Amino acid sequence: MSSRKKILTIIGTRPEAIKLCPLVLEFQRRAEFESLVCSTGQHREMLAQVFSTFDISADHDLDLMAPNQTLAMVTARATTGLDQVFATEQPDLCIVQGDTTTAFTGALVGHYHKTPIGHVEAGLRTGNKFSPFPEEMNRRLVGRMADLHFAPTEHAQQSLLNEGVDPQTVFVTGNTVIDALLWTRDRVIKNPPNDTAEIQKLIDDREMVLITGHRRESFGTGFENMCQAIRTVADQHPDVEFVYPVHLNPNVQQPVNAILGNHPRIHLIAPLSYEPFVWLMNRATVVLTDSGGIQEEAPSLGKPVLVMRENTERPEGVEAGNAKLVGTSQEKIISELTTLLQDPALRDIMANVANPYGDGNACQKIADIISGKIK
Ligand code: UD1
Ligand code: UDP
Repeated sequence: MSSRKKILTIIGTRPEAIKLCPLVLEFQRRAEFESLVCSTGQHREMLAQVFSTFDISADHDLDLMAPNQTLAMVTARATTGLDQVFATEQPDLCIVQGDTTTAFTGALVGHYHKTPIGHVEAGLRTGNKFSPFPEEMNRRLVGRMADLHFAPTEHAQQSLLNEGVDPQTVFVTGNTVIDALLWTRDRVIKNPPNDTAEIQKLIDDREMVLITGHRRESFGTGFENMCQAIRTVADQHPDVEFVYPVHLNPNVQQPVNAILGNHPRIHLIAPLSYEPFVWLMNRATVVLTDSGGIQEEAPSLGKPVLVMRENTERPEGVEAGNAKLVGTSQEKIISELTTLLQDPALRDIMANVANPYGDGNACQKIADIISGKIK
């Protein structure tokens, strides 16, 4: 019988993979752990891109993605699929990350199997159960089930303590996305990945706004407003290029292609692998996004961020001055983006803040904590 501790890391979507692959690599480096990866396949192409970047392959792949899947469909398929994996592997610990359906079902099935649960990126809260939807509730529910809470910041730690979580089980580690970013940043700045050449031709040496957006609570009017605002600002700034790698969700693809297609300076491209995307963030003048991970990465690249959401579970960047909440109203997005494009001094102020989300050593800290905690 092996005395190595078996850790099952459960991953389903692009951001979970970016934030957990460096941790899986850290587990693999330590002889005391047997590291297994289960992909739910909640995302397909966008997940494969990240596994390939970090050279990680899943030991189990539930391959559950269906086009335009509903929340209940993913929940049901992940729950039954994971049940089999836990029954077969009987891990000593399972690791879930963040607030996705994969994280929620991973924790739920871990609980059903009485497997200890480690939650990476624990304690983020907006206090509004419908925003982000369904992520705020997923994260709270995972928090109720988890045994080890890896909070990225002291603010997140405090949120858990306020909810009565045992302080002995909460650890401030920094966010693992900074580990992933720093691992990637220096390499891509020195050697731009091949697939950036096309984009470089499009933008040349001009100023560039990088855009991403995919949040469920913005589908419909919110998305139409965001797109109309981007088109208006693009029309008013003939000297600025706009690059938008469009999320594969059909609820995103449809309005983005309908409203932003066929504009000479708005470049709609496919989702990028992590390395070219980091290159693109580093090249941007301003980032306009509703993404959680990008809010965390931007300060390390010195990029001002406008967050197209009404609230954020990541207030640290806003408090530090790197990010500004602009919601999804056309007027506000137009005015804030215009101000930033026309005011380099303001951009500099927003760019020059220390990253409040970590120092790039989160994976090492998490593995050290686990090392002392699993019996
Ligand atoms: C999910 C997460 C969200 C996370 C986001 C990251 C939930 C409830 N939502 O949202 O928290 O911020 O991922 O991107 O867990 N699709 C593809 N190929 C892909 C990925 C997605 O075609 O590689 C399309 C499919 O039609 C799929 C749809 O996008 O049905 C939605 O995917 P889903 O994971 O359900 O939701 P996201 O909006 O991506
Ligand atoms: N990202 C990427 N390629 C892209 C767009 C984003 O690799 O075309 C990365 C980005 O750097 C960040 C993560 O994906 O680390 C964010 O994922 P997403 O916005 O899908 O999810 P969220 O962070 O909002 O949960």
